[in-house]
Amino acid sequence: MTGFDQGEFRTVLGHFASGVALVTGMHRGHPSGFTCQSFFSLSLAPPLVAFAPGKASQSWPRVSSTSQVCVNILASDQEALARVFSQSGADKFAGVGWSPAANGAPRLHGALAWIDCAIEQVHEHGDHYLVVARVSDLDSRPGQPLLFYRAGFGNFSP
Ligand SMILES: Cc1cc2nc3c(=O)[nH]c(=O)nc-3n(C[C@H](O)[C@H](O)[C@H](O)COP(=O)(O)O)c2cc1C
Repeated sequence: MTGFDQGEFRTVLGHFASGVALVTGMHRGHPSGFTCQSFFSLSLAPPLVAFAPGKASQSWPRVSSTSQVCVNILASDQEALARVFSQSGADKFAGVGWSPAANGAPRLHGALAWIDCAIEQVHEHGDHYLVVARVSDLDSRPGQPLLFYRAGFGNFSP
């Protein structure tokens, strides 16, 4: 038993501001993806990143089906994309510009950075998975990030 409920857990953890990513992959020739803020760099040597998809996610089994994914870091003008890719069952890629990365995963046009990686380990923890992926290629462009803080989107002001 804990002294707090899920609502309080979400509220307090929501004070940790983060960037917003879209994790994408291909499934039987079709792009798939979901909005993700549980993304972080795990190791420099070897170059590893990690993120946590929910076990209830409908898109995660499709995104991970080839083990090759792209973590697209969203730019400040991509809030609408973040919202669409957080809706289960939506036709998320309708009208969305993307190009295949060298590993085949979708790189979204207009993102701030792209991290192409191969899934190496998937660990089960409660109602989510912890995925460790090895980076094969990456790139970025000048611009400002989309941020998420206390259940709201915002921009970075230095
Ligand atoms: C800003 C933001 C961050 C999110 N971060 C995560 C995350 O780190 N892990 C996760 O599983 N879901 C996260 N979600 C929820 C998923 O995006 C959502 O459950 C998923 O897209 C539902 O669609 P699916 O069933 O097709 O996966 C986030 C949603 C938003 C709006």
